[in-house]
Amino acid sequence: MISIVLIGPPGAGKGTQADKLAEKYGVPHLSTGDMLREHVARKSPTGIIVAAQVAKGELVPDNIIMDMVRIRIACANCTEGYILDGFPRTITQATWLDAHGAKPLAIVLEVTEEIILDRLAGRERQDDKVETVKNRLKEYATMTSQVLPYYEQAGRLFRIDGNKSIDEVFAQIVQALEPHVSSASASTAQGQ
Ligand code: AP5
Ligand code: MG
Repeated sequence: MISIVLIGPPGAGKGTQADKLAEKYGVPHLSTGDMLREHVARKSPTGIIVAAQVAKGELVPDNIIMDMVRIRIACANCTEGYILDGFPRTITQATWLDAHGAKPLAIVLEVTEEIILDRLAGRERQDDKVETVKNRLKEYATMTSQVLPYYEQAGRLFRIDGNKSIDEVFAQIVQALEPHVSSASASTAQGQ
């Protein structure tokens, strides 16, 4: 069982690295941002509720996100684990995941604001407007950064320099995770 969460400000490279980790470990990449954008695009009941918050770069309510993740991690292709990207973003979400999923290893991608703005300027997603990105940065600083001490105290936080190239960042992550991923998988297998 592999359970990894990717944390970091907007544009830190969570999605980029989650794709690579999913391929390496053969488990799905689950992005709560992508799930929400899909709901918004097809105007589902959830999409209608969250559309304005996603457009403004505000966090959507914990219960909506946790419901979405609960359904997704119960899917058959998640029995061997998953790479979560953009979840958890609050202490409530982090404690919920520890209680309802496999206790994850947490990767935080640390990137300077200058690099973030530069990377997002080169992308054309609906929620990459300047004001929205500013709000997403603010939400990260006020809410999501509180998740870091939670994982740090649990001894499950890995700080990665996300300012480097995609391949260099990936190499750092793999190096940091490797011993823990194998021992975590082994202990889960023994426990079952
Ligand atoms: P979400 O989609 O998660 O947005 P985000 O956190 O703002 O992050 P991004 O997806 O913009 O960036 P990323 O870190 O994935 O970087 P990427 O790999 O794309 O969330 C969107 C919204 O949904 C939130 O604002 C909120 O409203 C809601 N939401 C989602 N989850 C929630 C939750 N749990 N609770 C409450 N609300 C939630 O890379 C960015 C760009 O840089 C790309 O173009 C990429 O090619 C490039 N790049 C990546 N790495 C590198 C590198 N090392 N060098 C050079 N370029 C790079
Ligand atoms: Mg992303």
